[in-house]
This record gives sequence, structure tokens and C-alpha cells, in this order.
Amino acid sequence: MKISGTGSALPKQVVTNDMLSQFLDTSDEWIKTRTGVSSRFVISDEKLEDLAAEAAEKALKDAGIKAEDLDFIICSNVVNEYITPQLSCIIQGAIGATCPCIDINCACAGFIHAVEMAEAFYQAGKVRNVLIVCAEEPTRMTDWSDRRTCVLFGDGAGAAVLTPGDNIKSVKLSASSATEKLWQYRTLQPTPYITKDEMDVPLQMMGQDVFKFAVTAASKDITRALNDSQIAASDVDYYLLHQANIRIINAIQNYLEQPADKFPTNVENHGNSSSSCCPILLDECNRKGMFKKGDKIAMSAFGAGFVSGALVMEW
Ligand code: ACO
Repeated sequence: MKISGTGSALPKQVVTNDMLSQFLDTSDEWIKTRTGVSSRFVISDEKLEDLAAEAAEKALKDAGIKAEDLDFIICSNVVNEYITPQLSCIIQGAIGATCPCIDINCACAGFIHAVEMAEAFYQAGKVRNVLIVCAEEPTRMTDWSDRRTCVLFGDGAGAAVLTPGDNIKSVKLSASSATEKLWQYRTLQPTPYITKDEMDVPLQMMGQDVFKFAVTAASKDITRALNDSQIAASDVDYYLLHQANIRIINAIQNYLEQPADKFPTNVENHGNSSSSCCPILLDECNRKGMFKKGDKIAMSAFGAGFVSGALVMEW
């Protein structure tokens, strides 16, 4: 397949580091130095489903495809107000599509997993046009009195339309269960048979372990995808990495021994918007006109699970 269109949508509320330091024991200097984040977009009155539909419509317009021409919608989402129905079904109705749809939860690596699924369905002859929407509101997962987590995240939606082509050269996924490193619990409805104690626990993260996993997994995944596509690291025009922390991006850049200008970033003014990071960054680069036909692009992301993945494609 090939990516023929991209789109994104962001909440209107911008929250700067200085705004956070008004109610948290933190500082612009700490957050910028440790993470690279200066500000983030935070959901307030918006509904995530509306941002998702807006991103989807922009991607369809960019691709020159009508909603009724879609054969499949994949939505990557960790959490939203609904437990059911699935967000992809809500997006399907909002944009006027009639095709089947599915939600996946592969944490921040959702976009890479969705591309792998789209490509597999395409190779099996089941689909021609696929819409991927990553829609995330991780700011609703964190405890906003916990300076170790809430400063890291932002919200938003990113979308891509994939159409027939052989531009996706390789996708490599991995998983290694580490549920104690990054997790969140929510309580379900009580029943007469539940006797154990249950409680809602906001996002818990062992930051340094996640950091080490991220650098190792991304370096490995990208190398595997490059080897599989027989493309040298030096031949890649752009590396679009998960925007969790500028220090993670710099460490992967050092491992690959590639110049910094091949690594566009937006972590500075978005923070980590989970699986939306990759398609939002892709859309921003696309709309700036950075990509020319034939450019080689590597993407990589990692997240809770742990799960991770990388892809190599030609624009
Ligand atoms: N402001 C000020 N001080 C802080 C803050 C803050 N916002 N957060 C933590 N600190 C303090 C800590 O309390 C600690 O103080 P202490 O030494 O007195 O105990 C000190 O800063 C150092 O804390 P560390 O956790 O060691 O700091 P570190 O350099 O590891 O940076 C960070 C923390 C930014 C979280 C880093 O570990 C990181 O980026 N990890 C990866 C996170 C990530 O990628 N998460 C992805 C999640 S994706 C998903 O699937 C949802």
C-alpha cells in the first residue's frame, strides 16, 4: 500500500510548562531539559471522537478519496469516554463511511500496528482503501498531581489514508510483556460475585525502565525493518519517531549515526500524544511539503505492554 493522504486535529487548549508550575512542584527548565516538551494540547470541552473525525476527513481530502470508497477503518485508541461502542464505528458514522471497522489498543505503537494490519489485508486481496485514525487523550489517564507523569502528555488525533501500491517496504513488530512498568487500572461495574477490592489507579510509569526499553526496542526494530527492505540507514531521508522524549529520540539518532536534520520532531509543542504522535508528525511534515516522491521514510514507536514496531516506506 502507500500513504496517499494525512490529516490531524488538535484540542484548542494549549498548556505551557509555566502553567503546570502554577499547581505542580515543577519548572519549565526541568521539563524542557528532561523531556524537550515546552507545551502541549490538552483536551477540555472537545470530544475525542470529533477530533478523530476531523483528522479522518482531512486525510480523505488530502488523498482525494471519498468516505464511501473506504474498505476498512482501523482506529488506534487506548482510552476514550466509551467502553463500547468502538471509536472506529463512531468515526465511520461521523464521516459517512459504510465499510467495516475495528479498534486496536497497542498503546503508543498503534499506528505502526495499524499499517501492518492494513498491508496484510491488502496483500490478502480483502481491501484497497484503508483509513487509519489514531485518537488519544492520555491527559485523561494521568493523575494531575503527579509531576512524574502528567507533564509528559498531550492529546490529539492523526489519520492516514492508505491506497493500493507497494510503498510499504517492511513493518516489524515486537512485544515483551512488562505490565508492572507502565499501567493503569479502572474499575468495572460491581456484581454480587465480586468480593476483591478494586480501585481506579491513574497511569503508573517506571520512567527510567521505559526510557531504556524505548531506546533498545526502537533501535532494534528500525534496524530489522531496514535490513528487511535492504535499505541502509544512510539512505533514509527521514526518521519519524514516537515523540515521547527528545532524549529518547537523540539516543536512537546516535545509535543509527544519522544527522539530526533527518529526525523532524514536534515533541516541543505536543508532548506525548500516544499513538497519535506518529500520524500527527507525518501530517505536519506532509503539509509543510517536506516529502518528495521516492523519499525513504522510517517510522518507529513503542509503548505500554511493552509493544513496539518500526516501518520503512517510500513516499
Ligand atoms: N518536575 C520536577 N522534578 C521532577 C519531575 C517534574 N515534572 N518529575 C520527576 N521529577 C524529579 C523526581 O521526583 C526525581 O527527584 P528525586 O531525585 O528527588 O527523587 C528527579 O526528578 C529525577 O527523576 P527521574 O524519574 O530519575 O528523572 P528522569 O531523568 O528519568 O526523567 C522521565 C523522567 C522524563 C519520565 C524519563 O524517565 C522518561 O522520559 N522516561 C520515558 C517515559 C516515556 O517514554 N513514557 C512513554 C509512555 S508511553 C505510553 O505508552 C503511555
